[in-house]
Amino acid sequence: MRAAVLHALGQRPRYQELPDPRPGPGEESVRITACPLTNLDRARAAGTHFAAPTELPAVLGSLAAGRLPDGSRVLFRSTRGVMADRATTRHDWCVPIPDTVDDVTAAAVQNPGVSAWISLTWRAALHPNESVLVLGATGVTGRLAVQLAKHFGAGRVVAAGRDPRGLAELRGLGADATVRLDVPDRDLDLALREAAGPDGFDVVLDYLWGRPTEVYLNTLVVNDMVLRHSRTRLVQIGQMAGPSLTLPAEVLRSSGLEILGNGTGNAPPPEVLSGSLVRVLDLVGAGQLRIATHPVPLAEVAEVWDLAPSGRRTVLVP
Ligand SMILES: NC(=O)c1ccc[n+]([C@@H]2O[C@H](COP(=O)([O-])OP(=O)(O)OC[C@H]3O[C@@H](n4cnc5c(N)ncnc54)[C@H](OP(=O)(O)O)[C@@H]3O)[C@@H](O)[C@H]2O)c1
Repeated sequence: MRAAVLHALGQRPRYQELPDPRPGPGEESVRITACPLTNLDRARAAGTHFAAPTELPAVLGSLAAGRLPDGSRVLFRSTRGVMADRATTRHDWCVPIPDTVDDVTAAAVQNPGVSAWISLTWRAALHPNESVLVLGATGVTGRLAVQLAKHFGAGRVVAAGRDPRGLAELRGLGADATVRLDVPDRDLDLALREAAGPDGFDVVLDYLWGRPTEVYLNTLVVNDMVLRHSRTRLVQIGQMAGPSLTLPAEVLRSSGLEILGNGTGNAPPPEVLSGSLVRVLDLVGAGQLRIATHPVPLAEVAEVWDLAPSGRRTVLVP
């Protein structure tokens, strides 16, 4: 098979020939048709993610679209890498792709769509009419999160990001208001307070961490001794703006902040994950959930590795 192979952490993968993977007991062989290139893949290859490969060389990627031996179109996952034209998987790790969704779109939406769905439902337990702030809304996953928050009946959804064109597009995708992040801290503080209103946000989806999230957290401090009941569920999902931040203790005592994560360590049961993927694919097929893609040949993996087109998911096509 041909595959994108990582030989050393911090390098780009090489497109090269490898022996075909052999299906183990209970596994099937899949002919891959589309594989997304995500920030997770980049961070794992760079060695900056907690799940960076420990054995090299390694085929990267874990989620893709493909054909089973009987010709059926599926989304699947594999623990042995999917940036290739062949992989193996377990039958119970496959979800059929509906006729209304093409392979590239299906492969692109699997990870960010399910992540946004699970963040809003399983982790934040969003209720209708609650307000939502998305930090990093101009990214692929943030855009889906804005749309899904509206789909779940959120009241006010505020999209925060740097890219003015992306923020304008988010208005058309359901955002009620936008906040520019690429401004001085003082201006960002004021903009976030104004967007939050007197009651604050019920749910915050955080794809950034680092400075923007730190500025937001400091807006939560209340300088009085009034007893209140409030809850702000912040779901930590990505760290595009930094791996760490400073959290003053007073934020946690003077506000109703609850910090959760969304990732491998707190995943819902498999049937919840696959059920959410089926619903995400149905919404995409019905034109109610939009994702932009940038398909490129798998052979060009090294050239496109560091290029992340704004708001579009790069998809490698073998
Ligand atoms: N845990 C999970 O389940 C899960 C699932 C999906 C994604 N993620 C993580 O979530 C993050 C976003 O993913 P994505 O798919 O949306 O990526 P993406 O499409 O590449 O978007 C990246 C986003 O981060 C913003 N950004 C990058 N650097 C920034 C900085 N220094 N300050 C402020 N904003 C910055 C970008 O803003 P501009 O548009 O202004 O460039 C854009 O909104 C990544 O860390 C990814 O690994 C986690």
